[in-house]
Amino acid sequence: MNKYNISLLPGDGTGPEVVNEAVKILNKTQSKYNVEFNFIKNDLGGDRYLKSNELVTTKDLEDLGNSDAILLGAIGHPDVKPGILEQGILLYLRKEFDQYINLRPVILYPGIETPLAGKTPEDINFTVVRENTEGLYAGAGGYIHYGTENEVATQESINTWKAINRCIIYAFEYAKANKRKKVTLCAKTNVLTYAHDLWERIFYQVAENYPDIETDYGHVDAVCMWMVKNPEWFDVIVTDNMFGDIITDLGAMIQGGMGIAAGGNINPEGVSMFEPIGGSAPKYTDKNVINPLACIAATSMMLKELGEDKYAKDIEEGIIQTAQKLESLSAGKMGMSTSDVGDEVVKSLLDKNNE
Ligand code: IPM
Ligand code: MG
Repeated sequence: MNKYNISLLPGDGTGPEVVNEAVKILNKTQSKYNVEFNFIKNDLGGDRYLKSNELVTTKDLEDLGNSDAILLGAIGHPDVKPGILEQGILLYLRKEFDQYINLRPVILYPGIETPLAGKTPEDINFTVVRENTEGLYAGAGGYIHYGTENEVATQESINTWKAINRCIIYAFEYAKANKRKKVTLCAKTNVLTYAHDLWERIFYQVAENYPDIETDYGHVDAVCMWMVKNPEWFDVIVTDNMFGDIITDLGAMIQGGMGIAAGGNINPEGVSMFEPIGGSAPKYTDKNVINPLACIAATSMMLKELGEDKYAKDIEEGIIQTAQKLESLSAGKMGMSTSDVGDEVVKSLLDKNNE
């Protein structure tokens, strides 16, 4: 029997509510199949920071590092200045565990409404591979003459051959398993003539090793346009950290919204961390109205990364069935509570078992 240690990092806001539902699904999976999950809870987040001024401790790193995967709810607290928790926890963990890929599938499931007129699940089915450790997120920069009218602030985009190379290789490897087999580089080579020139050179160098994979290039602004107008053009999009952040929110919207959008912070050789990408949604906290499907989708991604494709697929089908029963995917408008949605997914897994 395969056994996995899963670190649960519910975090802030609606995080704990959605992680609860994900745990229900994992419990169902382990009772249905021959697999065992051992949950290790971690209380990192805004509340702990406000109480103890603590961000990520050595003990946290040890606990999280000893697990097979991390399931994160959300990080972000209304009483903590924006940036502290995001930088000190989320971005810190991504870098510390060298989760160098941020994998964000943009899939429109059947029966889900997209704001794009005339587009169907056949048209919206691609994956964004976002570099997750550097670029504008590297934290390079500073102030001169802080707080005066002479102030200068810089924030540099760091782009290393190593990080770009491994990210692009990951994207090509990912595309290999797809039907379409196409990788689009999303950059801005006409303006970022150093950084994205490096990206472009590495992209075409790596592509030489994958003769069966089609390559394409789009400037980030044009990619935004095409994601709305012709999403069917895309299979795998590879891009830098900042552009990846932006286009994946656009991606989330065209797949039906934050209620269903999930992502994985992946270190293929280490500990990966999976999360719904919607944030902590303080407005909806503790109301039992947030949509847990995104966190459940993150759970499915986690199982896939652990090599348990069958369980991952099973949960994905449960998500598809359940999503069709909701009035809307948006928080507060689902026509069901958070826990009801989790129960529905569990039920769909049970139903299949009885077939
Ligand atoms: C995301 C988020 C984070 C990011 C924030 C919360 C730091 O927007 O995961 O996309 O910018 O990466
Ligand atoms: Mg983002």
